[in-house]
Amino acid sequence: MSERTIEALLQEGRRFPPPEGFRQRANVTDARVYEDAERDPEGFWARAAADLHWFRRWDQVLEWNLPYAKWFVGGKTNLSYNCLDQHLAARRTKRAIVWQGEPGDERVLTYEDLHREVGRFANVLKSLGVRRGDRVALYLPMIPELPIAMLACARIGAPHTVVFGGFSAEALRDRINDAKAKVLVTADGGWRRGNVVPLKRNADEAMQGTPSIEHAVVVRRVGEQAAVNWQPGRDVWWHTAMAQAPERCDPEEMDSEDLLYTLYTSGTTGKPKGVMHTTGGYMVGTYLTTKWVFDLKEDDVYWCTADIGWVTGHSYIVYGPLANGATTVMYEGTPDFPDKDRFWAIVEQYRVTILYTAPTAIRTFMKWGPSYPEKHDLSSLRLLGTVGEPINPEAWVWYHTHIGGGRCPVVDTWWQTETGMILITPLPGVTTLKPGSATRPFPGIGAEIVNDKGQPVGPNEGGYLVLTRPWPAMLRGIYGDPERYQQQYWSRFPGVYFTGDGAKRDEDGYFWLLGRVDDVINVAGHRIGTYEVESALVDHPAVAEAAVIGVTDEVKGQAIAAFVTLKEGHTSVAQMVEALKEHVVKKIGALARPEQILFTAELPKTRSGKIMRRLLRDIAEGRILGDTTTLADPAVVQVLKERYEETAGA
Ligand code: WTA
Repeated sequence: MSERTIEALLQEGRRFPPPEGFRQRANVTDARVYEDAERDPEGFWARAAADLHWFRRWDQVLEWNLPYAKWFVGGKTNLSYNCLDQHLAARRTKRAIVWQGEPGDERVLTYEDLHREVGRFANVLKSLGVRRGDRVALYLPMIPELPIAMLACARIGAPHTVVFGGFSAEALRDRINDAKAKVLVTADGGWRRGNVVPLKRNADEAMQGTPSIEHAVVVRRVGEQAAVNWQPGRDVWWHTAMAQAPERCDPEEMDSEDLLYTLYTSGTTGKPKGVMHTTGGYMVGTYLTTKWVFDLKEDDVYWCTADIGWVTGHSYIVYGPLANGATTVMYEGTPDFPDKDRFWAIVEQYRVTILYTAPTAIRTFMKWGPSYPEKHDLSSLRLLGTVGEPINPEAWVWYHTHIGGGRCPVVDTWWQTETGMILITPLPGVTTLKPGSATRPFPGIGAEIVNDKGQPVGPNEGGYLVLTRPWPAMLRGIYGDPERYQQQYWSRFPGVYFTGDGAKRDEDGYFWLLGRVDDVINVAGHRIGTYEVESALVDHPAVAEAAVIGVTDEVKGQAIAAFVTLKEGHTSVAQMVEALKEHVVKKIGALARPEQILFTAELPKTRSGKIMRRLLRDIAEGRILGDTTTLADPAVVQVLKERYEETAGA
């Protein structure tokens, strides 16, 4: 983010205290929760844990062996039990999941229904040979079978690894192989803007190179339209298997520290990492943050618009809301199908009270204009949330005004796949909001902003966001790569967790997130590693070398720009641009498609051969070039800059 935008953020003077009516009824109204938690963080988390069901209570809240944490040590619990069985007495007929497909079909599952379906699918998994500790990969559209499968895995203690349906066959294969998953759950396809996403076809392609997979369970979602290559013996229809499965499946008594799931996310190397989340701490962290941040009440209709393929969906569509016994809405498709008012139609139809979405979506809605939300009755809404990237004050205020009708607090929540739970956020009944600021750490959370040397910086000075003490839902490691955990998160600054984000804190102690400071880019709220895209590019036979950077994009936050040098004998014609973009889509998925590709005879490098991304960013952002004195050949940059300006202007 540029210095100018930061200045604009800091000068943003508007304040939004909790509306009186909201505050009076809020779950948390007393700012003393911060001091209480600060005085005794472990006691604070233990009180939250006591709301939940444990087969055996923990002996110790936290065992902290920097950087290795164990939470609720010795405790035995089951997250599916807490999301389902716990509610059967009081909420048997309450709606657990309200789902709408893109074509407009609907399904409502009460807690009783969900409990039954999960029990059945847990038995299906068992019948396919899945045992406690075995990994199960889920590659599904946003349909109820996805949370059902997750909860079934949690029930029998088989860690799931959900792969976003937008990832390619190759990306799926790599994740399955890293996790050594035994079973893959997929669908014949999913709907997206009226088209079929060929999930089974991708899965088939992936399964050509996944020796660990013994079975694929296939949900019939799109029917005839999708060609499904059936492999008898390996492939099983979901509906056939479910029809034969008994309903009852007693939950496994899981240790607090048993693996609940892995979820792959991009980092600063070419290979995505399997972030590990365990059972007890993750359950407590997502349970309490859902309840407090979203002020969740018994009669709320809560809708988080994320895809369950990302951590936001794991924590705040599935586990957090269901652990609270909430009604959680799921929607399969895109916001512009069949028209640009789809979200608002859904809010109106289900009387959604809490809406949680991403800044990139809000900026898209802004671009489309207020006439779409104005067509619908949005008066049921009482709280709005955002996540995924910094929200610019303009988008915040637009959301507050045009979606929230000026009456709903907006909670800007900062967190990461690795943190598992929201860490920096307002409490809507307590916090006075400043548009563009995620405000302050959740009670019990320690966050600091430090300089290069790891020393805390003063008010309004930029620095690196670090976390100074363990929290219950923190990642426990990187699957199959123990060293990387230490190296990636706990080495940059001794004794604290490095987030990879830049931030400032103002004179009131409010945090302002400024974006990634590492080689991760955030495109429409999706994390993509520059090295991943570079590896995909150099995998193409024509490419000699590639450097990828994020460039500012008004709607997506950032877009991908690639500088590519071709091998001799290849010419940089327009078809090559398309071919390379398609190659990246094939290797990773459409979310990683470069927006711009620029061919160059050489990339700017230091004398030791390091590509100078900073200069590429300067070029792409049209800034005056930074220091070029360490360059091996400064002329390269000048030529590149001219070429870039020509291409961008063309
Ligand atoms: C960014 C998503 C500013 C940040 C839950 C972080 C944010 C990365 C915010 C994690 C926010 C997320 N304000 N930036 N409210 N929320 N980010 O792992 O750069 O997909 O490090 O988790 O998104 O992305 P991830």
